[in-house]
Amino acid sequence: MSDEVKKGLEGVVVAESALSHIDGDAGKLIYRGYAIEDLAREASYEEVLYLLWHGSLPNRDELDSFSESMADERSVDEDVLSTVRRLAEADADPMAALQTTVSMLSAYDPDDSETDPEDYEANLRKGRRITAKIPTIIAAFDRIRNGDEPVEPREDLGHAENFLYMLNGEEPDEVLAETFDMALVLHADHGLNASTFSSMVTSSTLSGVHSAITSAIGTLAGPLHGGANQNVMKMLKEVDDADQDPVEWVKNALDRGERVMGMGHRVYNIKDPRAKILGEKSEELGEAAGDTKWYEMSVAIEEYMQEEKGLAPNVDFYSASTYYQMGIPIDVYTPIFAMSRVGGWVGHVLEQYDDNRLIRPRAKYVGPESQEFVPLDER
Ligand code: COA
Repeated sequence: MSDEVKKGLEGVVVAESALSHIDGDAGKLIYRGYAIEDLAREASYEEVLYLLWHGSLPNRDELDSFSESMADERSVDEDVLSTVRRLAEADADPMAALQTTVSMLSAYDPDDSETDPEDYEANLRKGRRITAKIPTIIAAFDRIRNGDEPVEPREDLGHAENFLYMLNGEEPDEVLAETFDMALVLHADHGLNASTFSSMVTSSTLSGVHSAITSAIGTLAGPLHGGANQNVMKMLKEVDDADQDPVEWVKNALDRGERVMGMGHRVYNIKDPRAKILGEKSEELGEAAGDTKWYEMSVAIEEYMQEEKGLAPNVDFYSASTYYQMGIPIDVYTPIFAMSRVGGWVGHVLEQYDDNRLIRPRAKYVGPESQEFVPLDER
């Protein structure tokens, strides 16, 4: 057995998956063979969920009945809502609140306690319920902490549109609903990223779907993963507030040894294809509002980082200014990432249960080999 350490598991292949593939040199991403550009332009988030969970794109009837089954599951139990209320009133971190509440959903899931952890259909139902309820939880949390009452989900709206409706208390216009739906499509799956991998580790112990998704939410929250999107916007705001040149700001940050959020990626060696699409959206939203400053600032930072560090933007870089221009609160960006990526988590958890082996790597031991035990009173 080799003791070679692969720090961060870089390049290690630990599973087969039919869900998504990244070609890091070509800057290509596919979900089950479909190019991300085509899905972003043509498919709704519900179609992508169906594709990830059922293996093929739905026809009209299949999509209608799938969307209906998702919409049916949007409401959360009163007890769950009161926990959301308590967390919001305690000014909890939104990702911590989401993690706690998703964990709590297991107690109210009709399938949870009695079903075999390897029951595929039950796991799919649980995954669907969690995915349907996450937007309700995020929107209620944000409204309550702002002193507003939560807005009941509507069954007649699509997943993306209903979320914006619950968040703002009014139906979004078509451009906002479509942009948000596209952002959900772009974030839905991405190979064995850290949060997906943690969901797989949890399910490999035959722990349930709720536990796996709860693990994934905790992993997504960190600034090196999903937490980067809100830090990108904080950076842009800081540059703007100080009326500074963005390139100067970045140079100073790098001199202090800091990382520039939204830049670099473990798998892509060139620009992330999702960043290209979101960059266009950020520019379009700026043009529509008559102010492209956030986009321009981002482009200046992108060009500098590319030239000086050879680092290109990842998905979080332009999602930040896109969400900001849509009026979404900054600390809700990472929960929104979870709201989309849960589709991939559920897909990978289903794959894991389907061909399970406990995930259990080893560490190279670097501690002392042998020490003589000294009794407590003699130390
Ligand atoms: N800003 C500045 N330097 C960066 C950087 C960034 N965003 N990303 C990587 N680097 C540098 C590191 O400092 C390191 O330099 P060194 O070898 O001189 O120490 C080198 O590039 C390799 O970094 P490493 O952390 O080993 O690469 P990784 O593959 O483990 O990291 C990320 C991938 C995504 C964690 C990393 O690029 C990062 O921290 N990005 C910012 C956070 C982010 O946007 N996360 C969202 C990812 S989708």
